[in-house]
This record gives sequence, C-alpha cells and structure tokens, in this order.
Amino acid sequence: MTLEDYHRLRTVPTPYGPLFTKPGARGFPDPRYQLLAELPEIPSGARVLDLNPGVGLAAFAHARKGASVEAIEGSRAAFRALAENARAAGFKARVGLPWEAKEEAFDALLLALPAERGTRYVQAALAAAGRALKPGGLLWIAGSKKKGFDRYFKEAKREIGYGRVERREGPYRLAVLQKEKDPELPPLWRDFEAELRGHRLRFKTLPGVFSEDGVDPASRLLLETLPPLSPEDRVLDLGAGYGALSLPLAAEGAAVTGLEDELAGLRSLAESARENHLPVRALHSDVDEALTGDEKFTIVVTNPPFHVGGSVVLDVAKAFVHAAHRHLDKGGRFYLVANPFLKYEPLIESLFGNVETLRADRFKVLAATR
Ligand SMILES: C[S@@+](CC[C@H](N)C(=O)[O-])C[C@H]1O[C@@H](n2cnc3c(N)ncnc32)[C@H](O)[C@@H]1O
Repeated sequence: MTLEDYHRLRTVPTPYGPLFTKPGARGFPDPRYQLLAELPEIPSGARVLDLNPGVGLAAFAHARKGASVEAIEGSRAAFRALAENARAAGFKARVGLPWEAKEEAFDALLLALPAERGTRYVQAALAAAGRALKPGGLLWIAGSKKKGFDRYFKEAKREIGYGRVERREGPYRLAVLQKEKDPELPPLWRDFEAELRGHRLRFKTLPGVFSEDGVDPASRLLLETLPPLSPEDRVLDLGAGYGALSLPLAAEGAAVTGLEDELAGLRSLAESARENHLPVRALHSDVDEALTGDEKFTIVVTNPPFHVGGSVVLDVAKAFVHAAHRHLDKGGRFYLVANPFLKYEPLIESLFGNVETLRADRFKVLAATR
C-alpha cells in the first residue's frame, strides 16, 4: 500500500447508506458500533452524543433516523472519515477528548467501551458520559465480555445509576443505564521521571497513551542505539506518544517534530515538552498528514504501533516506513524499533535500497540510509 492509498478515504455499504472509512481509522467493521447503531429506542429529535465514534457508524445511523447527533473523536485518522460521514448524514463532529464534553446537555449518550485504550481511559470516558447526560438521560454502552465489559458495567452502575443488559451477541453486550448520580471525573494527569541519553526528564501523561507509567523498553533500546545528534539535526518522530523519543533528542539540541494521531498522546507530548522547557513541535497527524510533501528531516525515528493479527495497525506501521522515506533528506537516516517477529526489512529494503540490523535482542533496531 502506498502513502496515497493509505490516506485515501473509501466508502463501505451499510444499512444506513455508504459510510466513509480509511486505513488506520477505528470503528468499522466493529460489532460494538453495530449494536449501538441498531438501537431502535432513541426518539427522533433527541440530543445524542457519541463519545467514542471512530469513523461514526452509530452516529451516522442515528442522525439518519432523525436524532440530533454530536460526536467527539480524538484520532485524526478516524476524524477524517467521521467528518465526511457527519457532512453526509447531517451531524456535528469535532476533535476532542471525552472529558471535554459539555455537561448535562444530552438526552442520550453512546459509548463503545474503549477497552483497547486501557482501564483509566474507559473509567474517564464513562464518568465523562455520565456528566454529559441530563438528569434521567440514558447511557448506552457496548463492549465485549472478553475486554472487561462486566467489570466496566458494574462500575458504571455504581457511579451513574440503574442499568440493564439489553442485547447479547456472542461475547458482545449492549447495556443501558439511566443517570441518577453525577459521577466524579477521575484525576486525568499522571507524571513520572526517566533518565534518557543522560537527561533527567519529567513526562506528563493523560489516560490512554502508550506506556503511560514509564518509558517502553523498546523505545529505550532505540534511544541507546542512536548515535549522538548535532544541533543541525532535524528529527521527525513518527507516532510520538508523550515524547519518550522526542524529548531526549530535543534535550540533545536537535530540532524535533513529533507527529501523533491520538489527541491524548499529542496533549501529553505538548505538556511534557513544556514541563522540561524543550521546544518540540507537536502536530496532530495521521502518519504524515500534517506535513507538507516537501518537508525534509535529517533523521526519522519511530517505535511504530502494531497489533498481532491486526491488519489495520500494520497498515499504519507500513505507512510510517513510507513516510520516513518521503520526508528524509538524501543521506538522512531512518531508525525503527520493533518486535523481532515483525518483518519490516523487505519493505525498508525495497524503498531505501538498504537496511541494517543494529540490535537484535528482545527487540530489533533497524536502520536505513536515504
Ligand atoms: C508504540 S507507540 C510509541 C510512542 C512513543 N514514540 C514512545 O516511544 O513511547 C506508537 C504511537 O503511534 C501512534 N499512532 C498510531 N496510529 C498513528 C497514526 N495513524 N499516525 C500517527 N501516530 C499514530 C500511537 O497513538 C502511539 O502513540
């Protein structure tokens, strides 16, 4: 898949009309959204908020059925498709985090439990959903028993109000709760310190970011393997998260640009850079979407996202390799850290004409010269 293919929106047929989606965007196909879309009980004209819409199947369905729908999404990849679906079905979509929703404003809330983003994120999203509802409003949640549905449902009943399971489809559950109480938002920010390339740094993280309590060992290995940088270096960090790679390289004097798809990660990166007085340029970007085509760097680093057996996420990692090739100066160097079983070498070799294995251990560090 080329970068152009990666970035191209496409449509898929659904019972509610053609739905825009794209590689790297979550939300379709996904049984959680299907359960939320099929809800017959939302009255036409009701004010509905979707706090984890992905590309927006459920928001799309309810807007088409006459509800007044808003959707808040943090991923740029998902948002690009969501914005098109919002235009097509006539609902409002904005970039944001669940806990930024207006309070006591909605008759119904839709939430596909974002279990893949960790317990802290799910708990914050549930509390935010409870707060956004008017008293007596309904919260519809969908999730999988294999991903903690029962536990989250129990916690939500305790914090928000009476609830019952409405549908069961294999391991998937759809439940509804009625707002009786006003849940407290849990504390959102956490921080920790780490010593990286001789710099003591303090990181600030929001719920849902990768490796939120300490620097990932693969990222550490990449940092240990990189040669010293010079102040002339312009570094691109693809999938920067809260800046485990960006910050130490900025502390070494390089000009660093960090691209991050998830708003929680991007906010954590900006806040961590501020905390350490480091001038990192942090951009909300699906792969290289936020850069102009001709913007070039001397070094590209990445610890790319992956998911075993999850083709969507490997599409993203492959797009990272293409973006590294596109945005490197001639003679520039690309460094990638990965699990040994992920075979990036053929793609890197085919684009760069060379690939080296600098470390081969619990993780491997690959490098290539443009
Ligand atoms: C394995 S983590 C590495 C994070 C950080 N560089 C570190 O070393 O801790 C991969 C990062 O890529 C981000 N990501 C996933 N899909 C992306 C996309 N389409 N565009 C940009 N970043 C993406 C994830 O949100 C995550 O922060």
